Amino acid sequence: MKEKIIIFDTTLRDGEQSLKSSLTVQEKIKIAFSLEQMGIDVIEVGFPISSPGDFKSTEVIAANIKNSTICSLARCVEKDIEAAALAMSKSSNFRIHLFLGTSSLHIKSKLKRSFSEIIDLAVFSIKKAKKYTDNIEFSCEDAGRTEIDNLCKIVELAIKAGANTINIPDTVGYTIPNEFSKIITSLYNRVPNIESAIISVHCHNDLGMAVGNSISAIQSGARQIEGTINGLGERAGNTALEEIIMAIKIRSDILNVFTNINCEEIYKTSKIVSNICKVPIPFNKSIVGSNVYSHSSGVHQDGVLKNRNNYEIISPETVGMKPVQLNLTSRSGRAAVKHRMEKLGYLEKEYDLNKLYANFLILADKKGRIFDHDLEALVFMDIKKIKYTYFQLDSFDVTSGSDGVSVASVTLFCGKEKKTSITKTRNGIIAAVYKTINRIVGYPIFLKKCSLISNGINNDSIFKLDIIVRYCNRDFFGTGSSFDFLNSVIKAMIYVLNDIFRFKEMSFRKEEIKKEK
Ligand code: KIV
Ligand code: ZN
Repeated sequence: MKEKIIIFDTTLRDGEQSLKSSLTVQEKIKIAFSLEQMGIDVIEVGFPISSPGDFKSTEVIAANIKNSTICSLARCVEKDIEAAALAMSKSSNFRIHLFLGTSSLHIKSKLKRSFSEIIDLAVFSIKKAKKYTDNIEFSCEDAGRTEIDNLCKIVELAIKAGANTINIPDTVGYTIPNEFSKIITSLYNRVPNIESAIISVHCHNDLGMAVGNSISAIQSGARQIEGTINGLGERAGNTALEEIIMAIKIRSDILNVFTNINCEEIYKTSKIVSNICKVPIPFNKSIVGSNVYSHSSGVHQDGVLKNRNNYEIISPETVGMKPVQLNLTSRSGRAAVKHRMEKLGYLEKEYDLNKLYANFLILADKKGRIFDHDLEALVFMDIKKIKYTYFQLDSFDVTSGSDGVSVASVTLFCGKEKKTSITKTRNGIIAAVYKTINRIVGYPIFLKKCSLISNGINNDSIFKLDIIVRYCNRDFFGTGSSFDFLNSVIKAMIYVLNDIFRFKEMSFRKEEIKKEK
């Protein structure tokens, strides 16, 4: 029978401690509600002794979360344990999580004690915490580098003192999967009372092994996995929960375990965490990245159209993402173009696929991604007559000051004609530039989304701006990159305007053809 893996989330503790600035109580409660909805078993909400803000947010979350166990971190220090218990006292279901360094390195150079003093401290603290709740987790900090004899000894005594979850953290992300699984196996073989506790693991990602180590620990008997949403956490972060949860689901044939997670909530939670913590999700981030359900090459697109399973082990819907349309670029094959035309309502007999595909490749080489209106333009217009760069930048000038006023003056080539406009606004430089350009071209557009990626301000730095503009009930995507931030803004806008121009020309031609018929 499949056994359950308890999912322990520490986004609000290990994750939060790695952020540039602390989260507010409101932000933390929003994340906590999302984790609860996702079905997380245990939510570690903070380290109450560490700051009044952490104490307050723990109190508020403890009073509001009902379906997940609430947990707080404490050192093996009396005032930490008291603060953790007090902060969670409004919860009917809470856990105190004690931690203490157990490796010789930590004991000698950080804690400056002997191993037997560490054992006494652990036992004393567990017994003290037990006065407030029956639910005690004890973490052997730096377990990955702890001598195995010492680890077995302290685990045995911690269980005897009343800990019901024993956590084995790879605090510095040092171990590799085979080695980590041996640690868990040794505990099962050598600790006489091991069956009285759940073995948990908490892996850091310094060598990129966090998820791999957690999986190998499950195979050796660990039944609680700790981690964070999007893999946030100290340094290189923790086990990414979305990855381990999906690995358990997809490979349950081998792992023989399950979780109680509502997987359809994963994407939403990941977005909430990313937005609140201001840590963007890389486009190729496993499970939740924007590119991970896209197929690019012609061979892959053809394979997916024949049977999604050819190149997809997870469908985006499983994690609550919208189904992804195939991206049409110069790497796409005829099958993908034909499929998109079918979706747009065109039967193959209504157009010449060979000609369309040849022109598609020419256009794709010129402009990158091909959208629906581009395909239609290729059907209704002579490719030689399609204008790629009707709008072009001639010059711009922007000023912005501490009085909050931004002024943009832009000159564009509209075909052969040069047009200039100027705008003054209190809504910032981007608004000033966009309003000016909009005045020149006169399209009733709405800037729906704007996201900037930059890699710093060094000599080789690049700004990349992606925008989505709404026009005539359609979304138009634009992209612009440059060494100069404002140049990337203007390039993205001009990209979109040229697309809209082509769309208008195509629509006009389509109407003409209809009338001719
Ligand atoms: O990485 C670690 O060892 C920790 C403990 C507090 C569990 O975060
Ligand atoms: Zn940690």
